[in-house]
Amino acid sequence: MEIPADLGRVLVIIPTYNERENIEDIAGRVRKAVPAADVLVVDDNSPDGTGDLADTMAAADDNIKVLHRAGKQGLGAAYIAGFRWAAEHGYDVMVEMDADGSHQPEELPRLLKALVGADLVIGARWVPGGKVLNWPKSRLFLSRGANTYSRLMLGIPLHDSTGGYRAFRAATLDKIGLDDVESRGYCFQIDLALRALRHGLRVAEVPITFVERAHGKSKMSRDVMVEAMVRITQWGVNERVSKVRARRR
Ligand code: GDD
Ligand code: MN
Repeated sequence: MEIPADLGRVLVIIPTYNERENIEDIAGRVRKAVPAADVLVVDDNSPDGTGDLADTMAAADDNIKVLHRAGKQGLGAAYIAGFRWAAEHGYDVMVEMDADGSHQPEELPRLLKALVGADLVIGARWVPGGKVLNWPKSRLFLSRGANTYSRLMLGIPLHDSTGGYRAFRAATLDKIGLDDVESRGYCFQIDLALRALRHGLRVAEVPITFVERAHGKSKMSRDVMVEAMVRITQWGVNERVSKVRARRR
């Protein structure tokens, strides 16, 4: 697929931690689905050697780049490093994509098309046409719960604010600012969606089919869940307090 002309240069950022069995396949699928896009692997010094394999891939393909980080610091931190790298290298669109095949590169053209009329596009599971394949009941429950809680607590109109398949305009990331983002884990996704909405930016959700990984393990953990709960609650309370203050003034 050709990238819509007015979008400019696209970078697909793929964070990895122990994704040796997945990284070649996913990068290859991205290169095939959207040949004009570049790929940046952001590896947190994976013990399984994902970083070395990514270096080998980059040596064979100029459109694949690798950013090595010292150790596991969370999904949010990896993406922020990737976004900074992209801005420094003059990209106009930054895409977030999991390494494990859950986000199908073949659906990327649809996300990019939607970005023509939006500032942030979220590939959404919990909208008509959206699907999740092969998730256990517990995981479905967790994702729906996190989304419902966010919607109620934060008053945001989104159906999949935790979704991790996204396309941002560089200008969107500039406007919302990354310097004071504290979220380290998966609540980073909600954080950025909330910031975009609060800045009055256009956030579009397009249905995707999320396919649970066939190889390797999810990095979802208790800590990740606790961080999300605490932060969503904090953000919601802060907003209510500032609304009450504004009314009193
Ligand atoms: N560099 C780096 N550092 N990468 C990481 C880290 C980290 O600390 N933690 C996770 N990743 C990478 C994984 O290697 C994978 O490529 C991607 O981030 C997603 O991680 P998974 O562990 O596969 O996530 P998941 O399938 O449980 O969660 C998915 O759904 C969530 C919402 O329900 C992801 O799409 C999340 O982004 C999303 O919030
Ligand atoms: Mn996954």
